[in-house]
Amino acid sequence: MSRHVVGTPADVPPGEHKVVTVDGREIGIFNLDGEFYAVRNRCPHQGGPLCSGIRTGAVSSPGPGRYDYDERGTILRCPWHQWEFEITTGRSWCEPDRVRVRAYPVSVETGAALAAEPGERVPGPYTAETYPVSVEEDYLVLDLSGRAGD
Ligand code: FES
Repeated sequence: MSRHVVGTPADVPPGEHKVVTVDGREIGIFNLDGEFYAVRNRCPHQGGPLCSGIRTGAVSSPGPGRYDYDERGTILRCPWHQWEFEITTGRSWCEPDRVRVRAYPVSVETGAALAAEPGERVPGPYTAETYPVSVEEDYLVLDLSGRAGD
């Protein structure tokens, strides 16, 4: 199974993150202005705890003397040697075509939608008495089979 419920949106308030362990991998779930992103908590340089680094904004320039600053804080700086990665894609800014940290898609889904997903079991011939149950809360779902930003 590649999709995993890792919490609720309330577990990760805007501007915050939390690290979860899924299939033996530590993954940081980030909330950037209500959008959720996930990156591996292992720096591709020398394995530092990337998600405990500081977040900062990206600076870009449309021309000489002008610059734009993205205040969402989409850049994650590794605490060991300060390599920087884009949280939304995992891409590095020192060698973007070669160096990147694994980023995963995160979606917010209703409990009802998750309960309706087909399982891998085959139904048997007997039926027990059942009762309807509704789930009202939304959940964060991490997809380990996907890549964010591709
Ligand atoms: S281990 Fe992250 S920059 Fe070196």
